[in-house]
Amino acid sequence: MSDIKRYPVKENIGLTTLVNNDQYEAMYKRSIDDSEGFWAEQGKRIDWIEPFTQVRDISFDEHKVNINWYKDGTLNASANCLDRHLATRGDQTAIIWEGDEPTDDRHISYKELHGEVCQFANALKTQGVRKGDVVCIYMPMVPQAVVAMLACARIGAIHSVVFGGFSPDALAGRIDDSQVKVVITADEGVRGGKTVPLKENVDEALTHPSVNTVEKVIVVKRTGANIDWHRSRDIWYHDAIAKESKHCQPAEMRAEDPLFILYTSGSTGKPKGVVHTTGGYMVYASLTHEYVFDYQEGEVYWCTADVGWITGHTYLVYGPLANGATSLMCEGLPNYPNINRVSQVVDKHGVNILYTAPTAIRALMAEGDAAVTETKRHSLRVLGTVGEPINPEAWEWYYRTIGEERCPIVDTWWQTETGGIMITPLPGATTLKPGSATRPFFGVQPALVDAEGNIVEGVGEGNLVILDSWPGQSRTLYGDHERFMQTYFSTYAGMYFTGDGARRDEDGYYWITGRVDDVLNVSGHRMGTAEIESALVAHPKVAEAAVVGYPHDIKGQGIYVYVTLNKGELSADKEVNDALVLELKKWVRQDIGPIATPDLIQLTSGLPKTRSGKIMRRILRKIAENECGALGDTSTLADPAVVDELIEQRVNR
Ligand code: WTA
Repeated sequence: MSDIKRYPVKENIGLTTLVNNDQYEAMYKRSIDDSEGFWAEQGKRIDWIEPFTQVRDISFDEHKVNINWYKDGTLNASANCLDRHLATRGDQTAIIWEGDEPTDDRHISYKELHGEVCQFANALKTQGVRKGDVVCIYMPMVPQAVVAMLACARIGAIHSVVFGGFSPDALAGRIDDSQVKVVITADEGVRGGKTVPLKENVDEALTHPSVNTVEKVIVVKRTGANIDWHRSRDIWYHDAIAKESKHCQPAEMRAEDPLFILYTSGSTGKPKGVVHTTGGYMVYASLTHEYVFDYQEGEVYWCTADVGWITGHTYLVYGPLANGATSLMCEGLPNYPNINRVSQVVDKHGVNILYTAPTAIRALMAEGDAAVTETKRHSLRVLGTVGEPINPEAWEWYYRTIGEERCPIVDTWWQTETGGIMITPLPGATTLKPGSATRPFFGVQPALVDAEGNIVEGVGEGNLVILDSWPGQSRTLYGDHERFMQTYFSTYAGMYFTGDGARRDEDGYYWITGRVDDVLNVSGHRMGTAEIESALVAHPKVAEAAVVGYPHDIKGQGIYVYVTLNKGELSADKEVNDALVLELKKWVRQDIGPIATPDLIQLTSGLPKTRSGKIMRRILRKIAENECGALGDTSTLADPAVVDELIEQRVNR
């Protein structure tokens, strides 16, 4: 490990940061030794209607997992993001919206955002939304998406944001699972100069026979495209708010009332509705946003994530707004209309903190220095990454080319389920090592376990678990607490299992090695192999499908699919088979969405299976990685000859 570079703090930043290394260590120690006291203090960073007296009440027992923070306190998340700033920074910009076209932008002050949220909250009430109802938000990256989230929070409705890139089928499944009452969407979305037919997708999703709870669809006019209209069900956003007041009393919510549901992929079954509650989540979002990004009063902060993902929830909306930051929201793509768009936006709005994904960094890096031509980026102070391991080359490029060796990089490891950042450097405190997420955040107790669940001490490798609760943690899966306990707490009794593997080095730094289950990470998006497989086997010609990941230069991981066809469907004619491969790619794209499109499909006469019929994914992974010399033991296979065919016809070379 001697070739690993280190970037000590002092070389990097010449200003006062929130914490130095000693302070980090002292605060961390306190947060573990006196969890109750630490979180009682931190709980005060947000506004409570009824202050809490209980801090934590936790059981990680696999059969009765029960997680409560600040249980007897009451609050409102939207009031914490808006009302409490009105007196001190009402005229400060809360959201800078940067449109898909560089000429399109808008500044929204805290006062304006407050007014818009109240108005839309009243509109939701008029449309019949009550406390505890689930509202689905299927929107492009426009300010109304944030307004909609906060309006739900204001009246105690639970939002379920579904990424605008998901297909009608995927949307229907998510609407059905949580019995959605109202859907908020736009006529169309705009990204990279192309439009996305959001309203049409909603219309189609709502024709699914299983979907029967939706009473209203509220539609933002984004492009003015021609769309179908269902008079009794559809209502324009601008009509819905027209007569509503800009005042709306925030609902008094209990700390453990759900704030939102967010669907994410697991290794098996349909997507899981991860539930986050109000009090602990807000404390954790606000605390991590401030310390991890060293956020300081008046700074412009830009998280490039879509609101359809957890990063967009915690670090575009709830964290920064709770802290009174100016949060930049970008509608388009990092390389549209030019490869230097990110840098241009940084200069245009004076961005101080930039938080993005390794896949975006690699895509920019692939174009060389074009990503920074004619830009200065002097305002930048802290850079962040999230979503997947960052390879040291991309880290170095981000550090040197975007940040000009001035800005520390915070490589933040966390998950939809963790609610906020868990393992990360802190600017001003942590010596950086490219590719390592470094050390745990306050209150987080990571550990590595071997296959038997024994804790690995010191330098070593294993599965990453978290030993004790933290306030931002997900409390349950919507409507399925059994699955929640089973998925996260049954693998290693009494511990939260992350699904990731990691290594710990001699400095106690963590190096995330990636998922140890059948979850893929494609361009930082989580994809369940089971979801893609079930989409494929629904095709009339497909008998069986097995999906694995393989290393991909830009996406991190690509999707490699092995397909066996029904009898007689595999042609002797290559062109016919090639056409079918294209058709299958399109099929998956339509079924789940563009992010799930397979990169490579191999048609095969069989899959490697054990005698008990289990597909040996280990072998399929190796072949997909083009590592055919390292297949390991194949003696337990029912038909070892299958492997020769698979190797010979592999499509990644
Ligand atoms: C991966 C995104 C390495 C990891 C916030 C995790 C990372 C999954 C990092 C969660 C990182 C996230 N380094 N891997 N800095 N950040 N991951 O739920 O495999 O979309 O389990 O949450 O992304 O993805 P999710």
